Amino acid sequence: MRPILLQGHTRSLTQIKYNREGDLLFSVSKDNVVNAWFSHNGERLGTYNGHVGAIWTVDVDSTTTLLLTGSADNTARLWEVQTGKLLYTLETKTAVKRVQFSEDDALALIVTEERMGHPGTVTVLDIVKDGDKYTLEPINVIIPEGSKATVAGWGYLNKYIISGHENGSISMWDPKTGEKLKSVHPHDEPITDLQFSVDRTYFITSSKDKSAKIFDANTLNHLKSYTTDTPLNSASLTPKFQEFVVLGGGQEAMNVTTTSQRAGKFECRFYHKIFEEEVGRVKGHFGPINTIAIHPDGKSFSSGGEDGYVRVHHFDEDYYKFKHV
Ligand SMILES: *[C@@H]1O[C@H](CO)[C@@H](O)[C@H](O)[C@H]1NC(C)=O
Ligand SMILES: *[C@@H]1O[C@H](CO)[C@@H](O)[C@H](O)[C@H]1NC(C)=O
Repeated sequence: MRPILLQGHTRSLTQIKYNREGDLLFSVSKDNVVNAWFSHNGERLGTYNGHVGAIWTVDVDSTTTLLLTGSADNTARLWEVQTGKLLYTLETKTAVKRVQFSEDDALALIVTEERMGHPGTVTVLDIVKDGDKYTLEPINVIIPEGSKATVAGWGYLNKYIISGHENGSISMWDPKTGEKLKSVHPHDEPITDLQFSVDRTYFITSSKDKSAKIFDANTLNHLKSYTTDTPLNSASLTPKFQEFVVLGGGQEAMNVTTTSQRAGKFECRFYHKIFEEEVGRVKGHFGPINTIAIHPDGKSFSSGGEDGYVRVHHFDEDYYKFKHV
């Protein structure tokens, strides 16, 4: 089966995300548009219009009721998934680079950019519902010292918030007090993505330092490393019964002239989760891969590129042949 090409964006993709069941895929882009797609056939369910700047990030709650987005227009917005209705707009001082619902959907976090005298933050939001009205109320603002957060997410049972930083470090915070509990420094360059396992007991990071790493979410103990030859923008974990991680990245190198050299940099790379070896690649994008998401059933995955396309790949022997590396 050929990959399904989702053509609903005019500029580079920044994040894609499946809902819990995996029947829907949400995509956001620098073109200010949020799209929702049926993941099995690539038909568009709808769009969410309102942002007036590049959208950096999207998340959907566990019941596929609410969608949260963050944008360079200095807002985080809450939407109703089914109707596309904008429920609430939270104004921020700077761009919102990352959003995530807590495991129980009661809270969310947003990562805000450091700019023009405003420090970068990880802000905890209370999602308040009153009748059919929603508001997002900031209840805790964490300001990392030393290096801004680029990504963040909620650990198991919302006990911790884990953030990845521009200087390559990872920190663990108490979401109630904002206290820093732990910090490690596993990457040499900015962390570009942080995705949890389904049970949130471990997570994977990707970095511009050309590596991806897995950590225990309760201890920040380093468990696995995957080393590549290109700066990485995204890393995603397969479900428990599967032994792969999928990595994507690439750099628009002006001085790389041959097509073969260019092509190799823009493939999704599969690594064996335990043995840490590359086991295959999937081609397709014409530019760097910015974001990868694996379907919760582990039977397909999607990638979003600098080229403006989302590609949905179903794991099917006809085209899915691991190249021996
Ligand atoms: C990197 O950033 C983190 C988080 O802000 C900070 O705790 C740490 O001290 C920084 N490390 C270095 C070596 O600058
Ligand atoms: C291409 O650019 C990269 C990074 O900018 C540099 O490290 C490399 O040496 C350059 N290669 C050539 C052949 O100029």
